[in-house]
Amino acid sequence: MSILTVETMPIEGQKPGTSGLRKKTRVFVGTHFVENFVQAILDAIGGAAGKTFVLGGDGRYFSPQVAQVILRMCAAQGAKKVIVGQDALLSTPAASHLIRLNKTDGGFIMSASHNPGGLDEDFGLKFNMPNGGPAPEGVTDAIFAATKTISSYRILEAQDIDLDTLGETRLGEMAVQVVDPVADYADLMETLFDFPKLRALFAGGFRMRFDAMCAITGPYGTEILERRLGAPEGTVVNGTPLPDFGGMHPDPNPTWAHDLMDVMFGDDAPDFGAASDGDGDRNMVVGKNTYVSPSDSLAVLAANAHLAPGYRGGIAGVARSMPTSAAVDLVADAMGIGKFETPTGWKFFGNLLDAGKVTLCGEESFGTGSDHVREKDGLWAVLLWLNVLAERGETVAEVLESHWKAFGRNYYSRHDYEGLPVDVADGIVDPLRARLGELPGTTVEGMEIAAADDFAYTDPVDGSVSQMQGLRIVFADGSRFVIRLSGTGTEGATLRLYLERYVAGPEDLGLDVQAALAPVIAAAETLAGIKAASGRDGPNVVT
Ligand code: G1P
Ligand code: ZN
Repeated sequence: MSILTVETMPIEGQKPGTSGLRKKTRVFVGTHFVENFVQAILDAIGGAAGKTFVLGGDGRYFSPQVAQVILRMCAAQGAKKVIVGQDALLSTPAASHLIRLNKTDGGFIMSASHNPGGLDEDFGLKFNMPNGGPAPEGVTDAIFAATKTISSYRILEAQDIDLDTLGETRLGEMAVQVVDPVADYADLMETLFDFPKLRALFAGGFRMRFDAMCAITGPYGTEILERRLGAPEGTVVNGTPLPDFGGMHPDPNPTWAHDLMDVMFGDDAPDFGAASDGDGDRNMVVGKNTYVSPSDSLAVLAANAHLAPGYRGGIAGVARSMPTSAAVDLVADAMGIGKFETPTGWKFFGNLLDAGKVTLCGEESFGTGSDHVREKDGLWAVLLWLNVLAERGETVAEVLESHWKAFGRNYYSRHDYEGLPVDVADGIVDPLRARLGELPGTTVEGMEIAAADDFAYTDPVDGSVSQMQGLRIVFADGSRFVIRLSGTGTEGATLRLYLERYVAGPEDLGLDVQAALAPVIAAAETLAGIKAASGRDGPNVVT
């Protein structure tokens, strides 16, 4: 086996976004595209020599081929070992766990998360650090810089190696250890949650539906819910990961997980429903006739985490992304623990978790997690909810109602305008940004603007600064809206409008969400003119 040095040239557009590099699969399959990006990663982290990495992904189309390329490049560049999930499969949280458990030098995750998969859909690749979390901006900037100057990459000339069989083999001088993708992760969950109590819950007839959306959490859900917790067979639906996710859009929200919503809002609904996304880091939880908004879910879990064995000692603090509702802040204030507001994207939580400043964190985009790994974790959130329901002996609706009674309710919704031409999206955001300074003190749709800015964040641990993270317009009554452009899309631009209004209660805690937000929606439209500029009647996804 010889090591080849292959000449190449920079390829445009290899800038990692909110979560790694995501592109149309047809772009990823292009000549040298994967190799250039992998070389840039290895260069940016100071080379592979002597290092151990984790490798896996959500099983989407093209992953098996990319896994072989990564292995051959690591082998050519002196890596000591790569730990690979069987068939190159690993959920994102399981990959994060393996990186930490084995004290490795990081890992490669092949996924475009909740984006559809297939030759005509999306592919993605990201690098996670030795702490198990996504590479921070300093590293992704260095990766991008390396993609712009690359002139060659090094790769081992070798046959594909067998990733179906568990155990250790060699590729050149490098060890390749193929591991069960589920076992270590499931063991970790057993240390955090009261499995005997959950077994008793299911034995007592508690009914649940977990929709894996033909993506990576199928095997994890089946092992944990059906095998270890004894939930009846069939609790997990769409449980086999497929390269194209069976044509589904594996994004667990009411729009894309509508089958689950129909069941949960239908006759004879189970007690609890949940879904996860392509790579297993997102979650949606639903009760009988009860949708739980992700921001509320984070707040409820923060208020109740102590009911699960892994968090019995209490939580150190909480963090949420800026567009996420402030519901969890109210819990933190009541508990007297720290609270942090970060830019969008899980990579901003890593430092806070590593420094022990926070235990739980979450985003409005169906992401919740804790310090057990350095990614958000879909099944973890589902198990924590189950643990809370089992301890409280209440339904999801009852848990939510008592939470709102205690803390008030942050009515919340996100309106997405997907697939806009980039210039149209910029034409909405840029003029509004230019006017931010003159808005405070003015009134729009009868609502007085108290503050307006473009969110900037200074990391309290390393002092790094991230600017232009979303336009915030806050009204005198505490309501607000936020506008930002997606950093994960692969085509055109997606404009996200986040809307929030707080009601202290005890009245008006059970309003229709969109109706409760109507004044904020109207003010946002007047200020930003999204419908007029986009030519759309309204958002195409509402969560
Ligand atoms: C979206 C979500 C964000 C999440 C990211 C990765 O990013 O909004 O909260 O961390 O996906 O799952 P965006 O497309 O908004 O940049
Ligand atoms: Zn994901």
